[in-house]
Parts: sequence; C-alpha cells; structure tokens
Amino acid sequence: MSAWTRHQIFERNSIILIVGILAVIAIGGLVEITPLFYLKSTIEAVDGIRPYTPLELAGRNIYVREGCYLCHSQMVRPLRDEVERYGHYSLAAESMYDHPFQWGSKRTGPDLARVGAKYSDDWHVTHLKDPRAIVPQSVMPGYPFLAETEIDTASMADHLRTSRAVGVPYSDDQIANAAADLKAQTDPDGTGADAFAKRYPKAVIRNFDGKAGNPTEMDALIAYLQMLGTLVDFKLYNEKANLR
Ligand code: HEC
Repeated sequence: MSAWTRHQIFERNSIILIVGILAVIAIGGLVEITPLFYLKSTIEAVDGIRPYTPLELAGRNIYVREGCYLCHSQMVRPLRDEVERYGHYSLAAESMYDHPFQWGSKRTGPDLARVGAKYSDDWHVTHLKDPRAIVPQSVMPGYPFLAETEIDTASMADHLRTSRAVGVPYSDDQIANAAADLKAQTDPDGTGADAFAKRYPKAVIRNFDGKAGNPTEMDALIAYLQMLGTLVDFKLYNEKANLR
C-alpha cells in the first residue's frame, strides 16, 4: 500500500477523518495543557508587586462602577508603537491582584496602565471634574460628584476579605485596619500614617483631592490612578532579565 492509498482511507470516509482530527487535536491539547497542572503559578514573580491599599482598592471599585474601562484599556501590548507611547509593555504580574482585571478592549481614550505619576494630583482633580477644562476636544464625561462624595469606609474590611478569598494575600492585620488605613493614606500628618506605612511599605501617603476632611471618592480614584504602572522598577527588571 502506497502512502497515497493509505491516506485515501481518511479522504474517502468523513467519520474516520473526524476521528483522526480529534485524535491529533487531543494530542496537541495535552502537550499544551498537561505541564500547567505541574506548575504552581503561570505568573512570573516580579519585585515590587503588592496588593492594593484600601484607598486604592476603593478607587478601583469606583473605576469599575463608573465604567472607565469602557473607554480606557489597561494593558500595553508588546508592540513598538505602544511601548514608545506608553512605556514598558504590561507584565502578567501587574494584574495578578486584579479581580476582575481591567485590560479592556476599547481605547476611546488612552491606555491607563502607566498613567501613575504622569500628572499631578491637581491635574487629575481638574480633569476628572471637567475633562474639557484641560483638553477642549475631549469626549470624556465629567465626574464632579466624586469630589463631593465621601467614601463608605465601613465596608472596606469586607472588600479586603473578599479579595483574600480569591487569592490576594491580605493579612489579618490589614483586614482589621482597613477602614483606618483608608483614612490614614490621605493624611500624611495624621496619627495612623506610620502604622499604615508599616502595613503597606512604599505606598504613597497624600491628600490626593487637596481638600480637608474625610476621604472622598476623588481621593480614592486619584490614589488608584497615581499608582497604576508604578510598582515595578523596569530598570531593575530589565537588568535581571538580561542576567537570566
Ligand atoms: C466616553 C469615553 C470615556 C470615559 C467613559 C472615560 N474616559 Fe478618560 N479619557 C477619554 C478620552 C477621549 C481621553 C483623552 C482626552 C482627555 O484627556 O480628556 C481621556 C483621558 C483620560 C486620562 C488622561 C490619560 C493620559 O494619559 O493623558 C485619564 C487619567 C482618564 N481619562 C481617566 C478616566 C477615568 C478615571 C474614567 C472613569 C471615571 C474615565 N477616564 C472615563 C475618554 C473617556
């Protein structure tokens, strides 16, 4: 039997062809999937990645509630034009504590994965209240009410606890102090600032909305925006990558 006649068996009988296709796909699938069962994590550990502070988490919740993801992505793809515009491409580790992730699929506005520390807090306050005060042609809606709305701190511990249930490593101490830490992050001179800094080393403590009084939704959203993309030191990351 020549190779051609053997192949005829498949070409002349659609059932045998389908069985053949399934067998080949199953082998391919097993080769790809089986190793994943033996890996503890598919996400490469990266220095600097930490869970969100309660204030940042509250800001993220507002980001989701207001549907910012409908116009903004949070993922820089590893393509030259994106990297030149936004900075280092996104790493899987950068969204490992996101539930749900905010990668997005629509860019009516720019990608926000690296927007942290790009502008001042004042800039964000003005822009979020009325985007056209800064970019006259902007189609982004204004969110002036955020500055007038205080955050409900009472539910913060539950938010942390829920995040922990899906794998974010919050400690008991962080959960117990969630409401206090939320306030402390907006008050550098307050009594809670030191304890907060111990629980969340390197997190920025600042009066984000520039107003006295209890933390507002504006504080939270800006705290979140200002930390986006700032956790990883890409100079160190690239040096390490070159050593590997
Ligand atoms: C209808 C679409 C739309 C929605 C919804 C929207 N934006 Fe925007 N956003 C834009 C556009 C367009 C721009 C670019 C023009 C400008 O700066 O206003 C922008 C710009 C920005 C910038 C500046 C980015 C940069 O790198 O210059 C930030 C920050 C931002 N938006 C945050 C938000 C947040 C936070 C929300 C949700 C509360 C939001 N946006 C909702 C369309 C949108």
